[in-house]
Amino acid sequence: MVSERELAAARRLLAAAGSLAALTGAGVSAESGVPTFRGPGGLWRNFRPEELATPEAFARDPRTVWEWYLWRRGLIAATEPNAGHRALAAWEQQHERFTLITQNVDGLHDRAGSRRILKLHGDLWQERCSGCGYQRRNRALAYPALPPPCPDCGAPLRPSVVWFGEPLPRMVWAEAERAVAQADLLLVVGTAAQVYPAAGLVEQARCAIEVNPASTPFSSRVALALTGPAGEVLPALLTGGRDKITTCPPPIPTA
Ligand SMILES: NC(=O)c1ccc[n+]([C@@H]2O[C@H](COP(=O)([O-])OP(=O)(O)OC[C@H]3O[C@@H](n4cnc5c(N)ncnc54)[C@H](O)[C@@H]3O)[C@@H](O)[C@H]2O)c1
Ligand SMILES: [Zn+2]
Repeated sequence: MVSERELAAARRLLAAAGSLAALTGAGVSAESGVPTFRGPGGLWRNFRPEELATPEAFARDPRTVWEWYLWRRGLIAATEPNAGHRALAAWEQQHERFTLITQNVDGLHDRAGSRRILKLHGDLWQERCSGCGYQRRNRALAYPALPPPCPDCGAPLRPSVVWFGEPLPRMVWAEAERAVAQADLLLVVGTAAQVYPAAGLVEQARCAIEVNPASTPFSSRVALALTGPAGEVLPALLTGGRDKITTCPPPIPTA
């Protein structure tokens, strides 16, 4: 539970931040009903995501990998953005110097109204050819044949997401690093902070606030760890105006 004292301290830091960045992970979509990888419902037919979201798995068994992604698309298509996504979208509208960086591929930030989104791990609704570089957006939940063939060259299409062992999109990563370096404050929302290099952004932040109902490797290192769900904590935080500049305090010990 987040105490009033912690919320007030977080609001003061936010109000004082001239520029802000937010890094979100699967947890921001948990209250929409999208399973996280490491929480309950993260498994599919007894596969671990780490066994399916790899180039090796796709090379070996593209049909099973596609079936898993279509299952995830189906789950996500039936969900709605939650109050946490909406609070971040509203923050973008009100503040010019705000950058949203997400590890999520579900498209819920877009649907909540966020417009400038650095998608570190790609997008589940985007497909690209494993041969020729053809790309398309697609909301299909089923295909006559799997893997779907590229309409240009016939090679298998793949989801345009970053798999374990693959590099992040270079430009997106560079922009994310720049945004974090320039931000007075980084909000770290719903990420277990175990997947690198994305988790490295937290280490680069000048000052950070974490929003997560569970503790993570960073909870004791951030200025404030707000132990609660994003859908409750973010709307409570991301309201209010500007304040005078304060400096990032040392971590507040949790009770
Ligand atoms: N929705 C998606 O797009 C989706 C879903 C699963 C995994 N992934 C991707 O897989 C990788 C896994 O890393 P990860 O750290 O993002 O996810 P993760 O599954 O490893 O961790 C999820 C984190 O969210 C926290 N959490 C759970 N409910 C929450 C809530 N209501 N509010 C705030 N936090 C909550 C958990 O305590 C945990 O720390 C990332 O690339 C991730 O984006 C994406
Ligand atoms: Zn092609």
